[in-house]
Parts: sequence; C-alpha cells; structure tokens
Amino acid sequence: MRTHYCGQLRAEHVGETVTLFGWVDRRRDHGGVIFLDLRDRTGIAQIVSDPERTPNSYKLADSLRNEYVVKVTGRVTQRPPESLNPRLATGEVEIYADQIELLNAVRKQLPFQVSTAESEPVREDLRLKYRYLDLRRERMSQNLQLRHQVIKAIRRFLEDTEGFIEVETPVLTRSTPEGARDYLVPSRVNPGEFYALPQSPQLFKQILMVAGFDRYYQIARCFRDEDLRADRQPEFTQLDMEMSFMTQDEILDLNERLVCHIFKQVKGIDLPRPFPRLTYAEAMDRYGCDKPDTRYGLELVDVSEVLQDSGFKVFADAVQKGGIVKILPIPNGNDTISNVRIKPGGDLFKEAVEAGAKGLAYIRVREDGEIDTIGAIKDNLTTAQKQAILQRTGAQAGHLLLFGAGDAPTVNKTLDRLRQVVAREMNLIPTDQIHLLWITHFPMFEWNADEQRLEALHHPFTSPFPEDRNDLKTARAQAYDLVFNGFEIGGGSLRIYQPDLQQQVFETIGLSEEEARNKFGFLLEAFEYGTPPHGGIAYGLDRLVMLLAGEESIRDAIAFPKTQQARCMLTNAPSRVDDKQLKELQIASTYKPEKGQS
Ligand code: AMO
Repeated sequence: MRTHYCGQLRAEHVGETVTLFGWVDRRRDHGGVIFLDLRDRTGIAQIVSDPERTPNSYKLADSLRNEYVVKVTGRVTQRPPESLNPRLATGEVEIYADQIELLNAVRKQLPFQVSTAESEPVREDLRLKYRYLDLRRERMSQNLQLRHQVIKAIRRFLEDTEGFIEVETPVLTRSTPEGARDYLVPSRVNPGEFYALPQSPQLFKQILMVAGFDRYYQIARCFRDEDLRADRQPEFTQLDMEMSFMTQDEILDLNERLVCHIFKQVKGIDLPRPFPRLTYAEAMDRYGCDKPDTRYGLELVDVSEVLQDSGFKVFADAVQKGGIVKILPIPNGNDTISNVRIKPGGDLFKEAVEAGAKGLAYIRVREDGEIDTIGAIKDNLTTAQKQAILQRTGAQAGHLLLFGAGDAPTVNKTLDRLRQVVAREMNLIPTDQIHLLWITHFPMFEWNADEQRLEALHHPFTSPFPEDRNDLKTARAQAYDLVFNGFEIGGGSLRIYQPDLQQQVFETIGLSEEEARNKFGFLLEAFEYGTPPHGGIAYGLDRLVMLLAGEESIRDAIAFPKTQQARCMLTNAPSRVDDKQLKELQIASTYKPEKGQS
C-alpha cells in the first residue's frame, strides 16, 4: 500500500506515482489551489490539489484540517523554481494528489499546534498530558528516533563486533546496593513481604559472571526513588555491561571504542581516542567537582599554603582547621561582575551560600598588580602573599578572583557552582565542542556525617587498588566515570571477587557479617563457587541521548517521562487504589490528606 515515507521523496522520484500515509501538518489555500503539508515520522511532503489537474481529490483536500489522517496517491512532480524549498529535504518536489482518502478526522480542538511550521514553545505540562501529539512534533520525534539509533548502534557494536550477549534480569527483586531509596512492591502471596524494583542490575550481572557469561549487556530499566533534577528520572534506562577477565585499561578501551562507534553512527563524528583521564584528586583540585566540564578553563587555584598564616582570620582559620583556601580566577571579571552581585544579597553571593559557603571573599586586580578588595583582606596581605596569589592564578589587570575558604568539600562545591554560572553568563562554553573524559582513582569511601560512618562512594562491590589494600579507609577504588561536557554519563568499576576482601569492605562501612549475609548473602555465597575476576560499567542512556540531542532536560529524551513530582501526566499515575486491592495485599495506608485535599 505505502510506497514511500513522506520524508523520502527527492527529485529522483519525479514521474513516479506514490502512495503516502500521514497527518495533515498544514493546509493552505492559494487561490483555489490547495497545498497540504503531509507529515509522517520521517518528514514532510507537499501535496497539491486543484480542480483542474486533480479533480478527484480537490473537494476532499479542501475539507481537510490539521492533524487529519489521510492516504494520498499521486504523481511526484518537480516544483517550479519559485516554490523550491531548500529548508525541506523534500523541497524540490511536490505530489499532485490523484486520490485522497480520509482515514480519520480530529474531533476535538487541538490543545496546541502540532505543526512543524508553527513550532512555538508549549507548556511542558500540556506536552506531557497530550504526549501523543507532542511526539508527533518534529523535535520529539527526532529525539526518539535518535534514541533508537543510539540503542541500535550499541547492540550492533556489542553483539556483532565484541561478542556480548544480552540477558534480562528481574524487575521484581531485592534491594540493590546503589544507595537511593527503593520503590517497593508488596507481595500478595507472601503477605507482609515486599519486592524492591532494581536500582540497577548490579548483583545479577555479577552473578552472571560467576555463571560464566563472560560478556553481558542489557538495556535495563532502573528505578530510584530520589529527588528529581533536570538530568534525573525515577525510572530510567541504563546500558548495563559486565565483563570477566579484563583489566581496567582493557575495559576502558572497549568502552571508548563503543562510545566512538555511537558518535560515528548517530552523529557522523570521529572522536579522538584515547579519551583523556583525570584522577578524582586532580579533578577536585582543578575544577572542584568529579564531573568537570572541560570545554572551558576557569580552573581553580589552591592558595592554602600561601594564606595559612594570613592575618585575615577567615583564611588562616580555614587552613588551620584542616580546610583549604581556593580561588576561582575570572579573566575580565571586573568588567562583567559588579560588587553588588558578589556582596550579601547579590545573586553570586547567594549561589555561594546555597552551596554552603559562609561568605564570598574577592579581589579585583587592577593595573600594575594593584588590588582592590575589602580592607580586612587588603590590610592583611603581605606583599609576598599578594605576589604569590597573582602569580599562581596568572591574574592580569581586569581579573576578578573569587575565594572559597573552609572545609574542602564546601569550598569545592561553592567554586564549582560559581565556575559554571560564570562560564554560562560570560559565554565561555564552546557549545559545539564535545569533551569526553574518564575520572579514575575515586576514593573507596566517603564520610556520611548524618550517620557518622564511612559509606561506599560507588558501591560496596568495588575493588580497591591492590597497593591500597592495607588501609582500606583511605584506599582508592578501581572505579571510573565517563564525563560528557560536565555530565556523568556512565560509571563502573572492577569488582571484588575475593570473599575476605569483600568482608573487610563491609566491615569498613559498618555492615556486620550478619547484615551483609542478610542483604547480599546470595551473592557472597555465589562468590564461593569459582568467581572470575570481573568488572563493568553502566551508562545513563537517557542522559546520553539528551546530550546527543542537544536537549537540557532528560524528559526530552524519554517517550513517557515523569514530572518533577514523579507523576505521569498522561496516565495520571501514581493513583489511589481500591480498598479491596489493599486488603488483598494486607496493606493499609496511613496517609491522611491535608485539609482541603481530596
Ligand atoms: P550508577 O549509580 O553510577 O552506577 O549509575 C550509572 C549511570 O546511570 C545514570 N543514572 C541516572 N540517569 C537518570 N536518572 C537517574 N535517577 C539516574 N541515576 C543514575 C548516570 C550514571 O552514570 N551498577 C552501577 C554501575 C556499575 O558499577 O557497573 C550503577 O548503577 O548516567
């Protein structure tokens, strides 16, 4: 029936009779000649009908409205020179509609214009509620097709070139070790007991290695009940991989080839290999974060040593209490960033405070190395200290130096945040560039101040570097993250496969033997039966697609995403359920609606 998709027609088809199916994107009446833009998922073709040349279709063509579904049969014709449309892939041709068949009409008023030509911004709640209309629009249709291309490229590479096999792992399972809150599912046949939806297939993929599958992958749905951000969803998709008998370098090399293959297939871009690597320590030192956007400079400079004896107490105290003093040097910052913005009440000051800083000290560098700042700093800087600051930051006249002083995590968080804000507003980000880099040598553990204990930074199955095993508390992990323009798109590690080492790691995070057996006993037991050395990685597929599509929200890379409140606007999930259902599950809700709510 269908001979072509709309978007496929080119000058080479002139003279052919074609049959197309699609939606009326727009209908225009040019003095008795009807032009229809016919749209399907591949693009738009121009259909023409007039009483003389296409008498059979004219009446119907005249009655069509936007988003009607039609079948069109007609002759592909070269457009006259004055109506060529170079912006449209099919812009050299038009189709004289010998026959049009109306397959379905639109019965309600459209909540927004779907038409490609009228791509005005539409409120996101409307887009999500009428997602089927939103997905007809060019942007989302292209994003989902890009997503498909990415998955296809992944499968081809992993299966056809590298010998991976896909294995599905359960969705109704036990809690996994990724550390977010679980989504729970009550079991009717085991009253009082719950499944947890997987935060990742981590435990199963390690068990598949014990089972000898050697190279596993899965496009896996994961669930995490955590606070949502622009790049997070409660339900998201990972490209999950695990491999046996490979070193970290071999794993990273294979993954670089995979990522290059994806970029080549879907974007036609040749990425240089190997990808740069930064250790966690270096990333924190230079950028204050473990997923730096390295497309621009604005690197941080540690001046703790210079200012440890400063007469300005804020600096000296910070260092003496074991903290640090760092500077974000901003070239030309004097011209672009006013004092109002960096003093209390200003927007940059607020950014700093939101990151945990108590204040935002600054120095403005003037001509001939003169500096401008508050008296308390200026009066307490020796000439040598001033010289050292200028020299280490490479500051020239016009530089604004913003200071962070305090414990290292807060200083880094503050300056990282300011670095990003300043880069954006000063247009320092070359948006056409692609920077991919590995972050390696993560610490095994970080301090959880709320619970007063160490916790695994990645997860407790991550292996330390052999040379660090003697002091696990400060050990570095054989873990790696892949960062794409400032976003963490993937992360993984070599795993522990020796029971005694695993036991030590559990002890370090305060998990007793009994608790460990309780939570992960099945894995620990599996490890007793001949476990190969193994390691793996998981990519945030939605995030990767978001970045490849040039989108800023992960929701634009997912067909049916959840809102910031974890709701599905289309189906209105989550929803109340019948008491009968709860009774069967032996569950009662303790939730009491607030006054005024139903
Ligand atoms: P991790 O927790 O780092 O590792 O997750 C891997 C990648 O998944 C993406 N991601 C998310 N994407 C969207 N919404 C979310 N809520 C979300 N959370 C994570 C990120 C991240 O880099 N089992 C380990 C992997 C391993 O060790 O092999 C894991 O899940 O892009």
